[in-house]
Amino acid sequence: MKNQNKVIEYNLEASVFNWEIAPGKTIEAWGFNNQIPGPVLKAKVGDTMIVRVTNNLHESTMVHWHGSRIPSGMDGTEIVQKAIEPGETFEYRFVVPDAGTFWYHSHHNETVQMERGMYGAMIIEDDSDPITDGDRIFMIDDMKLDADHHFTKPSWYIPRIKERHDGRQGNTLLINGKEDAVINMNAGQMERWRFINSSSARYFMLYMEGREFKIVGTDGGLLEKPRTVTEVLITPGERMDIIAGPFREGESFAIESLPYNRVTFLKAKRETFARVQIGEFKSSRAFIPEQLRTIEPLAPQDAPVSRTIKLSVGPSLKNGMDFLVNNDVHVNDQPVAIGELQIWEINNASLMDHPFHLHGFFFQVIEENGKAPSHLALKDTYNITPRTKVKIAWMPDNRPGMWMYHCHIIEHHAAGMMANFEVIDPNKPEKQTTVSNSVHCHA
Ligand code: C2O
Ligand code: CU
Repeated sequence: MKNQNKVIEYNLEASVFNWEIAPGKTIEAWGFNNQIPGPVLKAKVGDTMIVRVTNNLHESTMVHWHGSRIPSGMDGTEIVQKAIEPGETFEYRFVVPDAGTFWYHSHHNETVQMERGMYGAMIIEDDSDPITDGDRIFMIDDMKLDADHHFTKPSWYIPRIKERHDGRQGNTLLINGKEDAVINMNAGQMERWRFINSSSARYFMLYMEGREFKIVGTDGGLLEKPRTVTEVLITPGERMDIIAGPFREGESFAIESLPYNRVTFLKAKRETFARVQIGEFKSSRAFIPEQLRTIEPLAPQDAPVSRTIKLSVGPSLKNGMDFLVNNDVHVNDQPVAIGELQIWEINNASLMDHPFHLHGFFFQVIEENGKAPSHLALKDTYNITPRTKVKIAWMPDNRPGMWMYHCHIIEHHAAGMMANFEVIDPNKPEKQTTVSNSVHCHA
């Protein structure tokens, strides 16, 4: 039986504050409620969330609820709402329909606002979640700081081109806003660890010194069956929920990222984000079923393609290079109709990786370079390697309005690799999009 649905309210204040990422190392952060990450927003499936965002920055902002299947008007992008100006408050209100690990982040001037810390986790629980001994969130980030712990802006042509090409990959590695965090856990326990990659451009290849762990969930919630691995790639925007443990008393190991070559000027290397320290034994009450849920396949591998999307990189006189969707920047793509199954073939014609993100809907990968995937999963962000074609299937449900897709390397998104499109009700011919500013109010 479902729990009684509740209304859950949160207040988020965006502002500039000092944040200590390590003892004696303070940065000028931008974030929510004076902390990085911002507060964890929690609810149960079916609850209504009211989140009041007050902007105390000196520039406008808006907040996107990454992965949440909510109405278009609440999606937090320029095409569906007026930006929240300094001093104003905007009230976001939506029902949370899915259990899983989601997150929120600024969707305005992201190369600055996200880089400086404007993000947080949103955890939606359900009675059908596996029983574990603990639940932790690991928000992965990196910041590019100079020797005085200041954010830099590349001023010369070449460094600027490099940052545009690679995305802004930082030298300061953070988990939950802290450098060199130590995670204490009891021996004998099995915990759910929810990894969220909130960085601008870093490819995080999770590795725990060879220890096995089970992947139980990703962007759109649980997988069908746990998958035991020793490493997994988590690209910007993506989430991976794993079961960690049981470990032995006295064990200690690093949470690392293995080198992943996504074809950048920067050389891929192995780096440590945090350490885990295992303390005394505690008995476990965890129960991880072999079948976590069932996912209905949306379409067979050979379903006919309804749209092709080409991602590429082209020269630009002004910027050195542009990041393109169908040979253009900041594209308006064709509408889709409610109830019409979408089979999109995304062709990465460039020589570097791009994490493709679709707002507001989950998709299933049905084919990658001619092959069916190893398992079903509900995704909103999926990495597309160079010279690769990925076929995805998704269903526009009854949430008409404007939506978007883009590369989640924030600098690529800003450099043009994005498109808006409309979900239309085929029974109503006229343009249906309205910009939500009805609940817009001055603080
Ligand atoms: Cu998490 Cu439009 O992005
Ligand atoms: Cu990209």
